[in-house]
Amino acid sequence: MRQSRKLDHINYAIQLSDGPKEAGFADFTLLHNCLPEISWEEIDISSQIAGLDIMQPIIINAITGGTKDVLDINARLAEMAAAANLAMAVGSQYAAIEDKDNALSYQIVRKKNPKGIIFSNLGAYVTPDEALQAIDMLEAEALQLHLNPAQEIIMAEGDRNFTGYLKNIEKIVKKSPVPVIVKEVGCGIAREQAKALIEAGVQAIDVGGLGGTNFMAIEAARRNVALPLETLCWGIPTALSALETASILSKDGTLIVSGGIRTPLDTIKALAIGGSAVGIAAPFLRLINQPPDAFISWFNDFIQNIKQFMLLTGAKNIKELRETPLVITGYSREWLLARGIDISHYAMRKKHGC
Ligand SMILES: Cc1cc2nc3c(=O)[nH]c(=O)nc-3n(C[C@H](O)[C@H](O)[C@H](O)COP(=O)(O)O)c2cc1C
Repeated sequence: MRQSRKLDHINYAIQLSDGPKEAGFADFTLLHNCLPEISWEEIDISSQIAGLDIMQPIIINAITGGTKDVLDINARLAEMAAAANLAMAVGSQYAAIEDKDNALSYQIVRKKNPKGIIFSNLGAYVTPDEALQAIDMLEAEALQLHLNPAQEIIMAEGDRNFTGYLKNIEKIVKKSPVPVIVKEVGCGIAREQAKALIEAGVQAIDVGGLGGTNFMAIEAARRNVALPLETLCWGIPTALSALETASILSKDGTLIVSGGIRTPLDTIKALAIGGSAVGIAAPFLRLINQPPDAFISWFNDFIQNIKQFMLLTGAKNIKELRETPLVITGYSREWLLARGIDISHYAMRKKHGC
């Protein structure tokens, strides 16, 4: 069952388009700075996730592992991560917790990228001992715990009982030797749950918002059923989930913005909202069959464009980007005001340069 599910997820994630609801970045505008007073060489896009130094503010987010069929995909994703100096998460390691023979399809990631930053991944229902096994399996630098109630309830074989998760996460955090990141997989995290997770000791939140890969659509396609539009549009758009989470985060907490991050401008808007990095999943999957040179050329363009927009906002690093004016309009503004989140300072932040 798990074997065919992994391949189905990959095939449908590649075939289906994002959405139907958008990630929400269109309502967020960074101001052009005609006097940036910085030079291109000064621009530094390095960042930190829960104390881990990363060279680029981009993560190859959790995708796969567990069966022989996906070993080559993980091998290729790990080669891409190594070539581009990207942190990378593996897909849920539960298949290897249940059956050690499946461990190789995850461990290939460490083998291909021995010095890389690698994140373990499991559902938030696992025991603390299972979490430790997953971390050991990869000598992981951090552990991602995923929350995916919407996907589970659409999946015929999915879970139906979601009680006790928060307490369990708290227990895992206490035992984990590495930082714990809690992530959604496409429906987003609201301020209230982000706050509860931070209070439970979680070091980083990856919002996994609405607007990119849609797991309800993927599960419906696997079952050959059509879901109503209102179900497919369920969730919190990524940009709003990011701002909801940013509104409760202290200096020590890390925000990762994911779910439909597709362009360099999405990326710097996400960082300007308060993200330390963005997570991208399906687009990397669509690049695995490209020749290595083509991937590197795509990646270099992406990074050049991030730097270009940073220069044009007058921000030479991510800290300065977070202090650059960000104007929030339309639906997003109405949403955030209705939620009692003060956004006035975003548009009035201190501009760097002149
Ligand atoms: C084929 C596929 C499998 C995935 N499997 C996992 C998983 O095992 N664990 C997890 O936390 N997220 C998983 N995800 C979710 C991604 O990590 C990410 O949160 C989501 O796809 C949204 O990002 P995107 O819009 O850039 O694809 C998977 C995504 C894809 C495309």
